[in-house]
Amino acid sequence: MCGIIGYIGREQAAPVMLDGLKRLEYRGYDSSGMAVVGDDGINLCKAEGKIKKLVEKTNGGKNLVGVCGIGHTRWATHGAPSDVNSHPHLSCDGRFAIVHNGIIENHAELRAKLTEQGYTFKSETDSEVVAHLLQKLYDGDMKKALVELMKELKGSYAIGIVFSGTPDRLYAVRKDNPLVIGLGTGENYIASDVAAALAKTHEFVLLGDCEIAEATADGVKYYNANGHQIKKKPYTVDWDIARAEKGGYPHFMLKEIYDQPKALTDTVRPRVVGTEIDLDGITFSRAYLDSLSGIDIVGCGSAYHAGIVGKHFIEKHCRIRVNCTLASEYIYSNPITDEKRLTIIISQSGETADTLAALRLAKKLGSRTMAIVNVVHSAIAREADDVLYTHAGPEIAVATTKGYTTQVAALYLVGLKLACIRGTIEKERYEALLSGLSELHNKAAEQLKDHYVNNIKTYAEAFSKQHCVFFIGRGADYAASLEGALKLKEISYVHAEAYAAGELKHGTISLIEEGTLTLALVTQKELFAKTESNVRAVSSRNGTVLAVASRENSKIKSCVDGLVFIPECDDDLSPVLTAIVLQIFAYYIALQRGCDIDQPRNLAKSVTVE
Ligand code: G6P
Repeated sequence: MCGIIGYIGREQAAPVMLDGLKRLEYRGYDSSGMAVVGDDGINLCKAEGKIKKLVEKTNGGKNLVGVCGIGHTRWATHGAPSDVNSHPHLSCDGRFAIVHNGIIENHAELRAKLTEQGYTFKSETDSEVVAHLLQKLYDGDMKKALVELMKELKGSYAIGIVFSGTPDRLYAVRKDNPLVIGLGTGENYIASDVAAALAKTHEFVLLGDCEIAEATADGVKYYNANGHQIKKKPYTVDWDIARAEKGGYPHFMLKEIYDQPKALTDTVRPRVVGTEIDLDGITFSRAYLDSLSGIDIVGCGSAYHAGIVGKHFIEKHCRIRVNCTLASEYIYSNPITDEKRLTIIISQSGETADTLAALRLAKKLGSRTMAIVNVVHSAIAREADDVLYTHAGPEIAVATTKGYTTQVAALYLVGLKLACIRGTIEKERYEALLSGLSELHNKAAEQLKDHYVNNIKTYAEAFSKQHCVFFIGRGADYAASLEGALKLKEISYVHAEAYAAGELKHGTISLIEEGTLTLALVTQKELFAKTESNVRAVSSRNGTVLAVASRENSKIKSCVDGLVFIPECDDDLSPVLTAIVLQIFAYYIALQRGCDIDQPRNLAKSVTVE
């Protein structure tokens, strides 16, 4: 949600920042801007729309001369997308420029006070108060001004600052919003995530809550909230920059769909040691698991959907009751939790504000917390009692693909491990599932062969004019259908709804008319007869049905209009393979409809506001 980049070094800052902003564009993309400290003070350029507008306006950055600057790509919260509401914001005297991610909760109060004191505001944003406050608080000592600034601000923020009085310095402060310092040679960066600076460095420092960074070309100093200098330890990010690039694919989403065999291998293989599962050293005793009154799984969007797949799997094999709750609901539901509940927090980014708040609440109430997270060192990863990383690599497209399937794979590992400890699964069944899980990446690779993809593409093209699509399934198929519907609506803007197949008849079937498309997921052998009768109920009302089925359920052919088989796999593991079909389907529908696939309207990848 909004992206920040800052550069101090010996090169021209603006072209470097434009490259960083392009890599961050998935965080927000309604407007962008840069401020560079030049010989004549701060020069600013902002542009409504995508980064390419800013590239044009600054002639690839050449028009902003200077080696120290900050840049921002915005996802509007306070004030519509426009040039004036874009960041950076300048102080009235033009000497301070700031970029901000997060929400300043007391902005109205601060704005009123500053206005009374003669400061004039140009934008409708909550962020602009920061620039004016800095002007007010600065008395020749920047560090002191930043300490005072943090005392004044309420809410969450990651802020990058340049000051015309110190053209060789870049400053940053943060609270409850991610910000990293990238360490280069003769140059340093600030960024809202590592992707922005990965082309330049793999060494990062995570700025802590209420800490200050002061960067020059040759080094970075860190201070705590009281202004005392502190030492920070860098960490290395071993992500290959190529994994954060399109690599010849027309869209990040397509590339990330094709990344899935590797992502699944990287997530599963290191944890499977012979017939044992090692969850990176995370241990659960039999006594602890037996004492649990239940497990809560919490997440947002696709992470929540992964949780629902996990719920089915864990309940079935571990015989522990699992509640799966949306993070935004969990935090205000007065949750009943304590040390007798295990809370599994799922998040690709590890920074989603609602999910982070849910984690903190569960911990406060005494629950043990385990995070399933992709981004290393993210807030959720740091704060949870245990973390099991998915190894999906950088995910750039707003609509998650490999992020989701690796979360599901990680939940399978957790479910099997817990079932094994509790002794609720037969040895043969355990080994069959473990071997199926270890083979999933090969099945995913089969699905990405041209003939398989082209078959789905043909259906997508045929159905691309649909206004409304239903997704139905039972059990694990229902869980998978939720993600299929979300994928379609996110990127193609087609209204899509997922229903438990048996529930359709309780109201929603009234919407089925001639030609209405229903995607029926039919991968569960035990549930075949029941699902088939639900499918027949749709087709007998002249609805069109496209089935995604296992070979064993091929009899569904007699009552559907189209059929895609998933590769042979254990029924309990089918949601990963179904998801891949539905991702490809959504992708080609969106392509056919001319949608902006990687950056769908109104969305942002990392949602750091509640
Ligand atoms: C956004 C993304 C979704 C994602 C959700 C949760 O809405 O567009 O793809 O599932 O956030 O994100 P997280 O990073 O917590 O998994």
